[in-house]
Amino acid sequence: MIKKMILTIVLFSAIPFFLWAQPIANTLVVHTEAGQDTISKYIYGQFSEHLGHCIYGGIWVGENSAIPNTRGIRNDVVAALKNIKVPAVRWPGGCFADEYHWQDGIGPRADRPKMVNTNWGGVTEDNSFGTHEFMDLCEQLNCEPVICGNIGSGTVKEMSDWVQYLTSDGDNPMTALRKQNGREKPWQVKFWCVGNETFGCGGIMSADFYANELARYSFFLKNYGRNSLYKIASGGLPEDYDWTDTIMKKWQTTDGWLQGYLGGYSLHFYTVNDWNKKGSATQFGETEWFATLSRTLHMEELVQKHAAVMDKYDAGKRIGLIVDEWGNWFDVEPGTNPGFLYQQNTLRDAMVAAVNLNIFHNHCDRIKMTSIAQMVNVLQAMILTREKEIVLTPTYYVFKMYTVHQDAVLLPVDLQTAACTSGTNSIPALSASASRDRAGRVHLSLANLDPANSQNLRCELRGVTGARVSGEIITAANMNDCNDFGKPETVNIKPFTSAQLQNGILTVSLPAKSIITLEIK
Ligand code: AHR
Repeated sequence: MIKKMILTIVLFSAIPFFLWAQPIANTLVVHTEAGQDTISKYIYGQFSEHLGHCIYGGIWVGENSAIPNTRGIRNDVVAALKNIKVPAVRWPGGCFADEYHWQDGIGPRADRPKMVNTNWGGVTEDNSFGTHEFMDLCEQLNCEPVICGNIGSGTVKEMSDWVQYLTSDGDNPMTALRKQNGREKPWQVKFWCVGNETFGCGGIMSADFYANELARYSFFLKNYGRNSLYKIASGGLPEDYDWTDTIMKKWQTTDGWLQGYLGGYSLHFYTVNDWNKKGSATQFGETEWFATLSRTLHMEELVQKHAAVMDKYDAGKRIGLIVDEWGNWFDVEPGTNPGFLYQQNTLRDAMVAAVNLNIFHNHCDRIKMTSIAQMVNVLQAMILTREKEIVLTPTYYVFKMYTVHQDAVLLPVDLQTAACTSGTNSIPALSASASRDRAGRVHLSLANLDPANSQNLRCELRGVTGARVSGEIITAANMNDCNDFGKPETVNIKPFTSAQLQNGILTVSLPAKSIITLEIK
C-alpha cells in the first residue's frame, strides 16, 4: 500500500530540447481506495503567547472595554476563530511560559502581582489574563487547552499543583483554592507541554539533562478523576536529530514510567532564511517569494528525519510528532515595538500555510498536532486587531478553506510536478494533499507555488465513484497583496470553476500563485 506522497520534480534540464516549447505536465494520482490514517483536527491548532498584542488587545480587552466582549474576551475574535474550527490553543508561551508563575494569574485581578515580560519588549504583565480567563477562552471556542508548563524557572511542585488546580475534584489544597476562586467543577485538560524550547529560553539544557527532567516532571503530573494528560516533550533545535534520539531512548528505557505518560514530542521550525535579515512581510519580490517557499519546504525533510528517529524506538507510532510552533517570521511592521513581533500577512503567507498543511496531512501517521505561531497579532497570525477593528488574514482563509480536512481520512497522493525557477532558485510548482470525510466526500487541496505561470494538472482519482466537482480558490493579483484595516478585503475565498471531472480523471487549470480546494462527490 502506498503510504507516502512521492514527489518527483521534473527538472527542465532533464527534458529533451525539442520538448521545451511544450507545456510541462503535472500529474497526480489520488489513491481513494488506500486511506488508513486520520488527519487529526489538532493539526489545525493555534498558539497564543503573552507576547505583544496576542493576548492583551487581541483576545483580552477586559470586562469594562467598549469593544464587545464576553467576560473580557473579544466577541469578534472568538466568532472569527469559531469559523475556522480552532481545535486547540497552546498557552501561555513560548519563552514566556518559562518565566510564568501560574499562581500570579489567579484570584481577584486587582490583587494579582505584576511582572516584567523580559522576553517580549520588557513590558509590564499585570496577569489579568490567567488560568481562569484562558480556560474561559477555550470554553468559548469549544476547543482543547494546551498548557505549557514552566520547567525553566519553576519547580516540580509548581507544575504538579497547576495540574491539580485545573483537574482535581479531590480533597486537596489546590482544589480548595480553585473553588475559592469561583470554579467549582474541575476542567478537563488533555495536552500538557513539559517545558518549551528547553535547549534555549526554556532553560539552556542539554538533551541528557532535559531527558531526566522530563521523566521527573512527568512522573509528578498526575491524572485526577477521568482526566488523562497527553504530555508533550520539548524538542531541540530544528535539525537536532540527536536530541530526538536522546528523548526517544529515554522514553523507551523508562518503560512503565515515562512510556505510560508521554504522548508527544515537539518540533519547532520557523520559516526564516536569515535571522539577522528576516525581510519585510509585505515589501518583497519574486526572489524573496522563492526564498521563503524554498525554506518552508524544508519542513518536509525535518518531519521525515525526526519521524525516522522516532520510528527507531517507536515503530508503532505511539508518540505523536507535535509541530507546536511553525510559520513565517519576518521583520516587524515599521514603527511597531520590535519585541512585539507584529507583522502583516500576504498571499505569500497563505501559500506557506497551504504548503505546510499539505506536508502535515501527508505525514498524519506521525504528526498528531501542530500550532501555528501565533493566533492573533503576532508572527503569521490568523487575525490582526487595531482597537475595535479586526482583519482576517490570507492565512486565516487557508485555515478556513482547509477545515474540510479536519478528522478526515488521508488519501495518499503521488504527485509529479514541474519545477518553477527564478534565478538560481527552483521549487516544485505544485503541492497537494487529499482526504475523505465521514460523509464520503473527497477533498483535494492544491497549491500552485509558481508566482508567474498557471499550471495544468491531470489527476487520476483512483477508485472514486463521485461525478461532481466543485471548488474554492484563494489568490490575488499580486503576491504581496494583503488585507488591511479600513480597506475591502483583497485576499479571501472565491468559487473556483476551472476543474473538470470525467471518468475518474480530473483536469485542473491552476492560476499562478493560487491555492485551491476541490470537493468531489
Ligand atoms: O513564537 C515566538 C517564540 O519563538 C516563542 O516564544 C519561542 O518558543 C520561539 O522561539
